[in-house]
Amino acid sequence: MMGGGCMMGCTSTTVIDPPRGAAFADPPTLPNLSMTSGVVEVNLEAKIAPVNVNGTTANLQTYNGFFPGPTIKVKKGDILKVHFKNSLPYTGVNDMGMPRDMTNLHTHGLHVSPAGNADNVLVHFPSGETFDYEYDLSLHRGGNLNFYHPHVHGNVAEQVWAGQAGALEVADEGTALSGYETHILVLKDITLSGGAPEAHTSADFMNGKEGDTMLVNGQVNPVLAMRPGQVQRWKIVNASNARFYKLSLGSHSLRVVGTDGGLLDKPYTQSTVLLSPGERVDVLVKASSTKGYYKLQALPYNRGAGDSANQQITLMTVNVTGSSLSQNLPAMVDPSATRLNVPANAVTRQITLSMGMGMMGGGSASINGIAFSDTEAYTIVSGRETYEVWEIYNHSMMDHPFHQHVNPAQVISISGGDSAYKSLYTTTPAWKDTVIVPAMGSVKLLVPVKDYGGTTVFHCHILEHEDMGMMGLWDIL
Ligand code: C2O
Ligand code: CU
Ligand code: CU
Repeated sequence: MMGGGCMMGCTSTTVIDPPRGAAFADPPTLPNLSMTSGVVEVNLEAKIAPVNVNGTTANLQTYNGFFPGPTIKVKKGDILKVHFKNSLPYTGVNDMGMPRDMTNLHTHGLHVSPAGNADNVLVHFPSGETFDYEYDLSLHRGGNLNFYHPHVHGNVAEQVWAGQAGALEVADEGTALSGYETHILVLKDITLSGGAPEAHTSADFMNGKEGDTMLVNGQVNPVLAMRPGQVQRWKIVNASNARFYKLSLGSHSLRVVGTDGGLLDKPYTQSTVLLSPGERVDVLVKASSTKGYYKLQALPYNRGAGDSANQQITLMTVNVTGSSLSQNLPAMVDPSATRLNVPANAVTRQITLSMGMGMMGGGSASINGIAFSDTEAYTIVSGRETYEVWEIYNHSMMDHPFHQHVNPAQVISISGGDSAYKSLYTTTPAWKDTVIVPAMGSVKLLVPVKDYGGTTVFHCHILEHEDMGMMGLWDIL
């Protein structure tokens, strides 16, 4: 195995416990320029800008100068118009042969058309170009946190690593959770070198690049105030390239009320929640009645590569302070959320994820033996308004978060990996667009292919693996 990952029997844990930082802040909201109700219109510009990262100023690749990007807020039924501008400078070609400035926009998690000027990841823009994206959210199920980022094959890992990622929130349709103070947490790691994001090495492409600085909304160990007994709602997205977070708030339970694709029927109480790149989770936290500081940590989790296998990291501190506020947890969240049965006529497909050594000491990554390129891709052809069962096999020694665009799925079964993760996602009415396929394990998904035709993709959300070819095309007829 490559890199510093600890495979088995890790004995020593490295504790990363930075001093308490500034007050927690949500990412800024992108202003809505539209006066028309039902239309959200925003300007989004990819550009290099100086950002203060834990006291050091670095030139990051940002959206509108912010790191993470500003949050786009919409609701079901809206038309979202994004006036996109690529102001990244032309700085040559990377090791994957891609001009570094080439970019585009993907709305990870939105159930919208993958064609035309909607969530079309096959269009690319060089430096200086503008493009008007338009997304019709009339068929998107509400109540979830999504994730926008670039999606040019061969450039995704470097651009997201350098800062291009932001949250995209779709409001709840019901009111079960509207009474709780709500925050967005964008989890992202980075390593700086010479006032810029550290460059990728070929080992980083094999392992997935992890940073040495772990940030919540761009801040190291921010302090979030809660009143004793208060219930807060946290919508969390893992916007990191490769780092997994096994979240724990010590003696406080995390009550999961929503997943990638929407709300659950009721809260599910967990002591830890594992979140791989691209996944989102919506949790309620009820503060202790005892005042004091409580650490939100990422506990060691061995994904088969990377330093995170033996790190215990303080991500954020909750300061329980002030007069008490005894809030109750809801009994129900979205009673309409149900687990689907597998229809007898569902088409079954097998998808195998592999890693190997390529030419000249570099790595290779493939789906069903094919590394995605402009000329070759493993392609699934599906009919609209059908159900499919995808059996995804991981033939490698590391976990791969498998992500499909446009249509969220339900998880039928998981073999291997974290047992709490498996039981949460295989027994609740969770909608998922990103699921960990454990090392040497497998996952079975029920994929309803709904509403939209067009060509889109599925891939590993360790973004280096996607760039190396662990991606396939999905043609929906
Ligand atoms: Cu978040 Cu195809 O990606
Ligand atoms: Cu996506
Ligand atoms: Cu992978």
